[in-house]
Amino acid sequence: MPIVYDSHHKIFFLHTPRTTYALGIGPQKSLIHLHWGARIGEGNLWAATPRWEAAFCPNFEPKDRTYSFDLLPAEYPVYGRSDFRSPAATAVFPDGSRVFDLFYKTHRITSGKPKLKGLPATYVERSAEASTLEIDLLDAKSGLVATLSYTVYEKRDALTRSVSFRNGGKESLVLDRVFSASVDFPHANLDFLQLSGAWARERDVIRQPLRSGIQSVESRRGASSHQQNPFIALLDPKADERQGEVYGLSLVYSGNFLAQAEVDQMGTTRVQIGINPFDFSWKIEPGASFQAPETVLVYSAEGLDGMSQTYHSLYRERLARGAWRDKERPVLVNNWEATYFDFTATKLEALARESKKLGVELLVLDDGWFGKRNDDTTSLGDWVVDRKKLPKGLADLSARIHKIGLKFGLWFEPEMISPDSDLYRAHPDWCLHAPGRSRTTGRNQLVLDYSRPEICDWIVKTMGAVLSEAKIDYVKWDMNRHLTEIGSATLPADRQKETAHRHILGVYGVMERLTRKFPKVLFEGCSGGGGRFDPGILHYLPQTWASDNSDAISRLRIQYGTTLVYPVSSMTAHVSAVPNHQVHRLTPLKTRGDVAMAGNFGYELDFGNLSAEEKKEVAAQVAFYKRHRKLIQFGRFHRLASPFEGNSTAWAVVSPDGGEALVWNIDVLHPANPGHRRLRVAGLDPKRTYRVVGTKHTFGGDLLRNVGLLVPLQKHDFQSTVWELKAV
Ligand code: DGJ
Repeated sequence: MPIVYDSHHKIFFLHTPRTTYALGIGPQKSLIHLHWGARIGEGNLWAATPRWEAAFCPNFEPKDRTYSFDLLPAEYPVYGRSDFRSPAATAVFPDGSRVFDLFYKTHRITSGKPKLKGLPATYVERSAEASTLEIDLLDAKSGLVATLSYTVYEKRDALTRSVSFRNGGKESLVLDRVFSASVDFPHANLDFLQLSGAWARERDVIRQPLRSGIQSVESRRGASSHQQNPFIALLDPKADERQGEVYGLSLVYSGNFLAQAEVDQMGTTRVQIGINPFDFSWKIEPGASFQAPETVLVYSAEGLDGMSQTYHSLYRERLARGAWRDKERPVLVNNWEATYFDFTATKLEALARESKKLGVELLVLDDGWFGKRNDDTTSLGDWVVDRKKLPKGLADLSARIHKIGLKFGLWFEPEMISPDSDLYRAHPDWCLHAPGRSRTTGRNQLVLDYSRPEICDWIVKTMGAVLSEAKIDYVKWDMNRHLTEIGSATLPADRQKETAHRHILGVYGVMERLTRKFPKVLFEGCSGGGGRFDPGILHYLPQTWASDNSDAISRLRIQYGTTLVYPVSSMTAHVSAVPNHQVHRLTPLKTRGDVAMAGNFGYELDFGNLSAEEKKEVAAQVAFYKRHRKLIQFGRFHRLASPFEGNSTAWAVVSPDGGEALVWNIDVLHPANPGHRRLRVAGLDPKRTYRVVGTKHTFGGDLLRNVGLLVPLQKHDFQSTVWELKAV
């Protein structure tokens, strides 16, 4: 049984195949955290949870000087009742007081996993896949009920947590902090790992030891952001890719978030993740509820690789949805870096013809096809084809592209409005704004107020009309600025701090409706590249453009960091021209191709500018990728050498049955007088023998895992090597 309630000791055990999470009903029915880590039996964990008296730790129960919430490991801590560490939830009651209690009331254990209303979440296809524990905690004075929800998957080492609040009282109240998960660790001998960066250099892996006080990452930008990803991990300081304990927390949310670890006076650690309390509050009327987003917790005793394997398969199979979830993704060409705004139907047809000859399957028409959009100063919101560029319209262009033998994709930026647009002239109050204040533009645009249902309805109708008018096989859903003046024209004053969360709920609602209405369309997320590479978006749009930086060497770090949490099938990567448009670097076409093959593969250049020899190479790359794309997109991905630690980056993909694998190594600089290096390949079957395709060599899987492949010496900078391994 994955969920066991020991009614004698009042302990809940939540088991996955290799992990256990445990919590118990403690003194006065407080909910106490007891264990998260390796799988254990159902023993008396209270014996390992001491109570003692300590100075300056006030006593909730005056007669018991050992009863202080400041010393107990809490499952969902609140403010004002002797726990001075960070609370998981805070509220303001009608009398202005902020103190409340959450004590155990009742619980339910069911099979399956309930949906989260209006929010993205992992799911099950059959109820036997998972079991769910729901625990109601009550604040008796106000009638506020918190329902903590835990789901464990039968065959995956993942646990999901979320919380909802229901106002069971007679007066309205305000929640101003609702974290989705809070976990207390009994020690602080841990490293804090985060994925941080900026536009064009997303998801750098940063790892630091915990210290006394709070260490955190957050977004206040209205989107999960390029700057911080809604994910952190705590690791044993000795843990690495292959061994050691790792605890991952990934928030299924695309708006403002906060993830933090607090080391307290006793050397214990409280880790929390959820909606950012900054600029957030939510008023709940009597009888109403508030649902917080889901957190996915993954424990691995096999280092970061073990953690990533669990996230990859869960997010690929039970977070992403729709017809494209399990389908091989097409090789595409995108016209953005090929033409920018300067294209015509004739130019696009020429690109399509060249692309077809090289084996490319889909042409994506990027920004600039609508309104009067010849640069980024105008027309967002005016989703009407520009007849100067495409005189016969989208349906005609799409038909021509299909006739050439390619599928056709289209770019949108649905959440935005240009001040220079017919839409803005008609509805100047449709953007997020604060009354009487000027409106800050970013890339010359404002943000539509998706907290307003009528604006969401308008975009579903408008985009729906374009998608129905022409045969569109793919949509690139972009989002090119962060949110300022976060306020809504229609919310009352005491609900203005709900705007950012309501806005992202509106975005999810629009994505849900459009993806349901157009189930065959492959939707790709994008936010100035990887500014919204998060599990929330991946629930609706199964893949995301990893970065606007298409330089192969920069991409090594971006893609490596991304794979800590996100599967290959969620990440798109394209070969672009040299000198690269973002960093002006010259890299070989082979290396550009090899790096882009770590994701859903494509091109972002004008094939017309390539030499005959280069075209031949492109055709070979496309053919190679198509031959192996099932393995690449749906196999097991293993990181082998980190760009954050040395000159080389390496990775492997292994088929689920271990029968075949591809291994890549990229050496960035060519060192003078280099020595030889061996590359150990993880994930192979140690009992099988593998042939290195194209050579006479065969090696045991054990040898490849423990001794490694010999990396050939290179003679130049930016060189790549690929090995194809087949079990014999
Ligand atoms: C930002 C995206 O990341 C690019 O790929 C491109 O679509 C531009 N926006 C278009 O404006």
